[in-house]
Amino acid sequence: MCVGISLAFNPLKKTPMIRLDGKTALVTGAGSGIGQCIAETFARAGARVIVAELRVEAGEATVQRIREAGGRAESVALDVTSESEVSAAAVRHPVVDVLVCNAGIGHVGTLLTTSGADFDRVMAVNVRGVFNTMKAWLPGMVSRGSGSVVNLASTAGLEGLVDRFAYSVSKHAVVGITRSAALDHARSGVRINCLCPGRVETPFVLARIAEYPDPAVAAREMASTQAMGRMGQPQEIANAALFLASDAATFITGVALPVDGGWTAGMFPKG
Ligand SMILES: NC(=O)c1ccc[n+]([C@@H]2O[C@H](COP(=O)([O-])OP(=O)(O)OC[C@H]3O[C@@H](n4cnc5c(N)ncnc54)[C@H](O)[C@@H]3O)[C@@H](O)[C@H]2O)c1
Repeated sequence: MCVGISLAFNPLKKTPMIRLDGKTALVTGAGSGIGQCIAETFARAGARVIVAELRVEAGEATVQRIREAGGRAESVALDVTSESEVSAAAVRHPVVDVLVCNAGIGHVGTLLTTSGADFDRVMAVNVRGVFNTMKAWLPGMVSRGSGSVVNLASTAGLEGLVDRFAYSVSKHAVVGITRSAALDHARSGVRINCLCPGRVETPFVLARIAEYPDPAVAAREMASTQAMGRMGQPQEIANAALFLASDAATFITGVALPVDGGWTAGMFPKG
């Protein structure tokens, strides 16, 4: 099971009903949080998982956990911002049936308080990283006539988000990449979708909460953004990724699926 995070809510049984037997899945940023949980969930569903991660030790730790649970995984050191590194990885691992472009970074700031360098860094990881990764593995999928891509966007890719200017711009771009590429390849047998999570309890979010003067208040406020009044768990995002990646979703492409406890459903009383 995905570790390091409260798992009080874990709807997925140990052996998922949706299967990825015989498939190879590559997950970027799989050394932490949502990516780690997707990698472990896909392995439990029968996939061989390639854990592609910038922080090599974190990636290897995910591989270790998957192997200890009886799954198949290997790690690849990968910086998604480097086109040459990504294309070299695609030469070493040419056959990928399921590609999850999950690696991403956050950033706090408005347009006025975001430096050009910070803006470029967020775009390099969150947008160029997805572009590089899809450009490396999509041709193989198209030539084989099958495959599924799941990108990690965000509710901030569907709506603006206060004080998260660069992040929100980057996630709107991920939705755009997903929809445009899905249309371009709709008849190729390759499906391309993205997930738009609300706030999910991962190291990414917990570190941000810890920076607030009163972390308990910040956590409550972040939970209240979701209509359900709580943050999501990585497993809840991994479940949706598994569905989109699998043959249970063969008529779904170009979708930006909110997995957000009702955040983007409309207005609701907060608290
Ligand atoms: N946690 C949330 O609330 C939330 C909400 C919406 C969307 N998301 C998105 O989900 C994805 C995962 O978020 P998370 O909360 O699990 O984050 P996280 O910080 O816990 O994990 C992200 C992982 O990506 C890796 N990474 C960063 N830059 C990389 C690079 N250049 N190349 C390869 N790997 C790199 C990191 O080392 C880390 O292991 C991100 O794209 C994020 O924007 C998260």
